[in-house]
This record gives sequence, structure tokens and C-alpha cells, in this order.
Amino acid sequence: MTPARLPRDRAKSLVASLTVELASASPMAVLTAAHREFGAQTAISFSGAEDVALLGLARDANVPLRVFCLDTGRLHPETYRFLEACRGHFGIAIEVFFPEPAALQALVTAKGLFSFMQDGHKECCGIRKVEPLRRALATAPAWITGQRHDQSPDTRADVPVVQLDEVFGGNGDTALVKFNPLANWSSAKVWKYIRAAELPYNPLHERGFVSIGCEPCTRPVLPGQHEREGRWWWEEATRKECGLHASNLADRTP
Ligand code: ADX
Ligand code: SF4
Repeated sequence: MTPARLPRDRAKSLVASLTVELASASPMAVLTAAHREFGAQTAISFSGAEDVALLGLARDANVPLRVFCLDTGRLHPETYRFLEACRGHFGIAIEVFFPEPAALQALVTAKGLFSFMQDGHKECCGIRKVEPLRRALATAPAWITGQRHDQSPDTRADVPVVQLDEVFGGNGDTALVKFNPLANWSSAKVWKYIRAAELPYNPLHERGFVSIGCEPCTRPVLPGQHEREGRWWWEEATRKECGLHASNLADRTP
């Protein structure tokens, strides 16, 4: 049976108590708490990059959780292969969500395949990522992301370990809870864990890619450059969120 989302008031007080409980908790403890409160329908949103650490930590904590990926249709071939490698390595199902065909057809017919270079990434991300995320989360009482403070000084420095997701949870009677177990881990710490646990990783990381998203909107960074500079490099730094984490933006519009 799918556990229902919590009524808004209960979710609010649970987030408040979890915030205290998990203030200095390890990512494994956060995953364990997410599973304890919301069960196996809690969904890890897996991008096919260094957040593979979440899959390893959930395995170490022995908590079975849903795992899904949003296939925008524009991921690198390496990322697709890596997703499949993870299915085999962890012996888990990875649900893959695709864009809604009619909306994608209309966008590409009207504006071609690279409209985001002209008029910004919001429209394309809206169709290829945000709408599929809504579907992926439709049955989830809570979700888990690999966001970290050090990923973006402009938009992620204050990401909490646990929060109410006002963007994807809507503002109805029930609420969606979002966990960011890696929030307090640095990139170096994530990689130390990936290596120690001998997890598979996306081979693009060996070629200077740090933050990995869609192929046309991701490039490697040079030594000394911040990882976010490799994403949507033609746009302003303060808007470098694709909508999945719009709650990090002042106006919260995905
Ligand atoms: S993004 O919003 O700018 O694209 P980023 O690549 O930093 O996000 O990843 C942050 C977290 O968002 C990941 O750890 C993952 O939880 C989620 N995420 C990003 N892209 C995807 C994707 N294609 N499928 C599933 N989850 C994703
Ligand atoms: Fe489209 Fe680029 Fe957003 Fe991917 S990251 S959905 S290609 S705008």
C-alpha cells in the first residue's frame, strides 16, 4: 500500500523535530530516519552523477528505498551506461521518467533542439525535468536528493538536511518532505566515500566534469573554477537551478 503524504500540520512538526534530531547526523542516519518515517516509497532522485553515494549509503544502512532518474533525452551516453551499471552493481530497480511527448514535440517543432541557448533553460527544463519530476513524486510521501552546500554558493549554501517541499508538495492539505542527506558533506568527502566503498562512478568525472546534467548544458571545469560554472555557462550564476530545486531560489518558480 502506498503510504499517504502527511497532513500539512503533522509534516511541519515532524520536519521541526527531525531538524533537531538530524542537526549533526551522518547521511546514513538521515536515510535511516527518512525510511523510518516514510517507508520504502520514499524516493531517491538519482541524476547519474556523484550522488551515486546516496545509493551506496542506503545500501550500507540497509534501507530499501525507491530510486528514480529523469531521462531528459539529452543526457550523455556515459550517463545512460552508468545508470545501467548502477542497476547491476546495487541489484536495484531504477525507475526512469521521460518527458511528456506532446509538450516536447511542440517545443522542438516551434523552437528546435537548442532553444535554451537563445531564450534560457527554463522552458526546456520545465518540459524535460520539472513535469516528469511531478509525476515521479506523485506517489511519494518524501524524496531524497544529493544536493550539497558546496555545490553552489549562490543557491545551495543554506540547503537544509530536511525541509517541507513547498514547490512540488503544493499547498494543499498534505505535504511532501524533502531530505538532503549530503547537504553537509563536501565534494571531497563524497569522493572519499565513493572510492572507499568502491562504488561505480560516471566516467565523465575522469574528464574534468564535476557537476553533470544534460550534455548540451554541461561542460568540464578548469582547475580553480567552481563546479557550477560548468552548467548553463551562458546564463547568470544566481539562476543556475533547473527547477528541480526551485525552493532554493528567492521566487521559488520552477
Ligand atoms: S540540477 O537541478 O542542477 O540539475 P544537480 O545536477 O546539481 O541538479 O543535482 C542535484 C540533485 O538533483 C541530484 O543529487 C539529484 O537528487 C537531483 N537530480 C538532478 N538531475 C536529476 C535527474 N536527471 N534525475 C533525477 N534526479 C536528478
Ligand atoms: Fe534542456 Fe539543458 Fe535543461 Fe537539459 S539542462 S532539460 S537540455 S535546458
